[in-house]
Amino acid sequence: MSKRLVCLCNLVDENEIVSYLKKGANSTKDIQRLTRAGTSCGRCLPLIDEIVLSFKKERPKVQQTKLDFGS
Ligand code: FES
Repeated sequence: MSKRLVCLCNLVDENEIVSYLKKGANSTKDIQRLTRAGTSCGRCLPLIDEIVLSFKKERPKVQQTKLDFGS
């Protein structure tokens, strides 16, 4: 896993962001609230968005299947 520093203002690296995503964070807003990344100058917000989107793409939510009781 990458230790790339994502938010220079708040010293948040990619590992920390991914660990919160694994624990259920689901959006950039969640990451901001949990880590404070992106809450100062905001320059890292596009990178946080990218990490969140890439995580969701790699681990799509388990789709709830429609129950089919037949007819
Ligand atoms: S680099 Fe993240 S808020 Fe400034």
